[in-house]
Amino acid sequence: MGFLLSNYQLTICILLYSLIFCFSSSSAHLCHNDESTTLLQFKQSFSFNCSACNCYRNGLYTDNWKEGTDCCAWDGITCDNTTAHVTGLDLNCKCLYGTIHPNSSLFNLVHLQHLDLSYNNFNHSQILPSFGRFTNLTHLDLSVSYLSGPIQGNRELTGKLASFINGTLRHLRHLGSLDLSEIDLTGELPNSIGQLVYLEELHLSDCNLFGTIPTSLGNLTRLIWLALRGNKLINGQFPSSIGHLKNLERLHLGDCNFSGTIPRWLTNLTRLTLLDLSYNNFEGPIPQLFSNFLQRQSIDFSNNQLTGPISSSITGLPNLHYLGLGSNSINGTIPSSLFHLANFSQLRAIDFSNNQLTGPISSSITGLPNLQSLYLGSNSINGTIPPSLFHLVNLTYLDLSSNNLSETVELDSFAKLEYLDSLDLSDSGLSLTTTNPTPSSFRNIRTLRLSSCNINKISEFLKTRMELLEVLDLSNNHLNEELNPLCNLHSLKTLDLSNNQLTGLIPTCLGNFNGNLTWLNLQRNNFHGSIPQTLGYASMLQELDISHNGLQGVLPRSLANCTNLEILNLGHNFIEDAFPFWLENLPQLKIIVLRDNKFHGPIEQPRKRLAFTNLHIIDMSHNEFTGTLPSEYFESMHSMMMDYEDKSSLNYMGVGYGYYSVTIMNKGLEMTLVRIITIFKAVDFSHNKFDGKIPISIGILKALRVLNFSRNGFTGPIPLSLSNLTELESLGLSQNKLSGEIPQQLTSLTFLEVFDVSQNNLTGIIPRGRQFETFSNTSYEGNLGLCGFPLSKNCGNVQIAESPTLPSSFSHNFKFKFDGFGWEAVLMGYGCGVLLGLLIGNCIIRRKEEWLVRIFGVKMCQHGKRSKKVWKKIAHAKSIINCL
Ligand SMILES: *[C@@H]1O[C@H](CO)[C@@H](O)[C@H](O)[C@H]1NC(C)=O
Ligand SMILES: *[C@@H]1O[C@H](CO)[C@@H](O)[C@H](O)[C@H]1NC(C)=O
Ligand SMILES: *[C@@H]1O[C@H](CO)[C@@H](O)[C@H](O)[C@H]1NC(C)=O
Ligand SMILES: *[C@@H]1O[C@H](CO)[C@@H](O)[C@H](O)[C@H]1NC(C)=O
Ligand SMILES: *[C@@H]1O[C@H](CO)[C@@H](O)[C@H](O)[C@H]1NC(C)=O
Ligand SMILES: *[C@@H]1O[C@H](CO)[C@@H](O)[C@H](O)[C@H]1NC(C)=O
Ligand SMILES: *[C@@H]1O[C@H](CO)[C@@H](O)[C@H](O)[C@H]1NC(C)=O
Ligand SMILES: *[C@@H]1O[C@H](CO)[C@@H](O)[C@H](O)[C@H]1NC(C)=O
Ligand SMILES: *[C@@H]1O[C@H](CO)[C@@H](O)[C@H](O)[C@H]1NC(C)=O
Ligand SMILES: *[C@@H]1O[C@H](CO)[C@@H](O)[C@H](O)[C@H]1NC(C)=O
Repeated sequence: MGFLLSNYQLTICILLYSLIFCFSSSSAHLCHNDESTTLLQFKQSFSFNCSACNCYRNGLYTDNWKEGTDCCAWDGITCDNTTAHVTGLDLNCKCLYGTIHPNSSLFNLVHLQHLDLSYNNFNHSQILPSFGRFTNLTHLDLSVSYLSGPIQGNRELTGKLASFINGTLRHLRHLGSLDLSEIDLTGELPNSIGQLVYLEELHLSDCNLFGTIPTSLGNLTRLIWLALRGNKLINGQFPSSIGHLKNLERLHLGDCNFSGTIPRWLTNLTRLTLLDLSYNNFEGPIPQLFSNFLQRQSIDFSNNQLTGPISSSITGLPNLHYLGLGSNSINGTIPSSLFHLANFSQLRAIDFSNNQLTGPISSSITGLPNLQSLYLGSNSINGTIPPSLFHLVNLTYLDLSSNNLSETVELDSFAKLEYLDSLDLSDSGLSLTTTNPTPSSFRNIRTLRLSSCNINKISEFLKTRMELLEVLDLSNNHLNEELNPLCNLHSLKTLDLSNNQLTGLIPTCLGNFNGNLTWLNLQRNNFHGSIPQTLGYASMLQELDISHNGLQGVLPRSLANCTNLEILNLGHNFIEDAFPFWLENLPQLKIIVLRDNKFHGPIEQPRKRLAFTNLHIIDMSHNEFTGTLPSEYFESMHSMMMDYEDKSSLNYMGVGYGYYSVTIMNKGLEMTLVRIITIFKAVDFSHNKFDGKIPISIGILKALRVLNFSRNGFTGPIPLSLSNLTELESLGLSQNKLSGEIPQQLTSLTFLEVFDVSQNNLTGIIPRGRQFETFSNTSYEGNLGLCGFPLSKNCGNVQIAESPTLPSSFSHNFKFKFDGFGWEAVLMGYGCGVLLGLLIGNCIIRRKEEWLVRIFGVKMCQHGKRSKKVWKKIAHAKSIINCL
């Protein structure tokens, strides 16, 4: 006890001492009492919620803001060293959550020169005119703070930014740096922007600005850094006013909507070091800007529609670090001048992927000693890999996927690149052998994609020390081993072994991978035996696809523990089990495919009121289910009821690594459905032994696009409620025992493209009008009591009202093209760059790679803060897609 006390006293002494020391030695820094109080009040008006903020680093409130201490020494505070007024407040990423009110104490800190509130969450409160009180402000950063632009005070103003400029910014005569990135400023980029002539840095990325760039922007001649990235609606020709900004060093104009050619006068901007024009609609040749660009460090022209060759006159950019020309329509060969040391000694990253480049990779590539990233995927590059490539010891990312290389290479040759983090050789044309691996090879590798590389054996190789490996794609090879060596790869998150002839049992270790495994695709192999119980221990699992194998037995109940599971594809096995009602609690489950197994028995009543609420696709076809359909099941399938989802911004299922895909068999045709869009909803119960009536409650699944109840024993009438399924494009009811008439109301299903009620006991007049004008005899065959168009059997004198015929996809932004009644659909793309189709068959993928990438335009994501922003290149579409 005595010891504790003395310790306590000692602490007090030290505290006192430091206080006194503080007071005496730097009294000039001691902050003003009122400012100290103000700051504390400001802090108290927020809660701290790091998960609500969008921090690029671990946001943390390091709290040394304590009453009675010198506020000038607090975290994030700067004081003037003569007046001791608070002149700087830097609260970047401090997890602040709450509203900034008009009477906020913040606005009492009138001496502020530097204010940074970025990366907090101010709960969509408005930027207030009170910011105008900081008349000496030189630096204002409100980016990514969930603030929104001020409401227009004046109707003549054209938007929120205009109103902010007029109400506040034009009073801040000393403001040199302004960052409003990712703040909603919906409106035009106003002419009045030209008033902010003192600005050196202006960041307005992702602000929902639209219209053209006003010429007055050319007034901001002091600008060094201009960022307008991600304002998708800024359009038109590239603004020549930017040519006046002679001091510009960094220019971010990516992901706007510019068109035309890239202007030559950009060479006027001789100080430019960073030029980002990616994700626009620029066309024409790559401009000859290069030789004057002595300072350039980064040039990004990727994701445009540039054509023609990479000119061999690209020289004299000794400072260039990054050259991005990916995802254009550039053709010709890669000039070897590019690889001459004197020209590009600093080059760290080259992205030429997804173009139409041909010819070989030049052997002079050794001229780039600092090269770390080389993206050449999705071109038509042929020939062999020059041995010099293996001398680029600094290489970290290498993508040669989807090319026409022709060579057999020992995988271990790449092991010389000891810093390799990501290697993608999928579909490159290379054949890989994997004998004699160096035990220490690939020590640093995280991503290894070797799909379609003619690999016969990999098990020896997998014994090497790839301890960091997170993504392994060996799909579409000729592996026919057992895969126990996989158990060495403890860090695996994504494992794709689909389309091989792997045998034996599914390795039980898969479930034990540190709980990291999220994506497991073993479809189309020869695995047999039962599904290991341990699979369910991989509790992070999001996709489990073990379809098309020879698996038997029952489903491991441990799967009920995989609360992140979104896709469960068990199709085409020999699984013998009852309906897995115990999956009903999985909150994320979107797709269940049980197709073609030996599932049997009735579908039970749901145990819980909220069962399968998130389901988008359920395919139980080709099993032995019996009994009547409990209507309660449909009543809880909420996401199938939602037809109000925003159709203008189409989302795909899947995250991070790629998109979910499901492969199914249809009429002898194998189809891989990739990028299943979230608005695609389907129910397929066909080829079972269900009986009883079709429950009326099916009519509440308003968002359904495909409904298939054919080949069962359903009796009774076709429920009227089906006419509520207004999105329905395919309805299959054939080969049942349905009776009564076809409801006239079904003509209201204006998107119905496939309709089959053949082989039932239906009677009466076939409805006329709209889509019903387009169905043929085969839709009605085998119903002796039906009459009228299109059947030859006349109904006598009965007259029926005809409704006008509408084109099936009239006003539909998207549609599916069906080959039968499965939900297996083929994506059709229509129109100008807008994604209209939803699913894709693998045959299209191969041919139309270019089209694919255009349409799906794999988008780079922006995270973090400017200079630290990583424009992360997600492996482009081809490698994401798991096709045959
Ligand atoms: C105040 O601090 C700044 C930098 O922090 C320094 O440049 C300046 O000389 C200091 N002035 C006085 C009077 O100490
Ligand atoms: C603004 O700066 C000027 C000059 O440095 C100074 O005289 C004035 O007091 C400052 N105003 C405020 C409110 O701090
Ligand atoms: C700017 O705001 C003032 C009031 O602060 C208003 O009188 C003036 O009309 C506004 N200017 C424009 C161009 O709307
Ligand atoms: C551009 O600058 C000039 C002179 O500095 C000024 O008179 C003019 O109003 C500015 N234009 C705009 C649109 O702000
Ligand atoms: C670029 O510079 C040239 C001459 O140096 C000049 O004639 C031209 O007008 C400038 N272009 C722009 C857009 O500033
Ligand atoms: C490159 O494409 C253009 C059309 O954009 C074509 O005229 C030219 O012949 C192509 N060159 C090569 C080498 O394929
Ligand atoms: C690898 O890069 C470093 C700098 O990033 C450089 O010093 C080194 O020379 C490079 N290695 C080779 C072999 O050129
Ligand atoms: C590479 O392709 C070009 C044209 O596409 C062709 O002329 C050349 O012979 C090919 N080279 C090899 C090694 O296949
Ligand atoms: C995931 O793997 C990493 C090694 O890459 C490991 O450090 C981590 O603990 C694993 N996560 C879990 C939840 O086991
Ligand atoms: C689910 O996990 C818990 C704890 O991790 C475990 O006790 C339980 O047995 C698991 N359930 C199944 C069905 O495996």
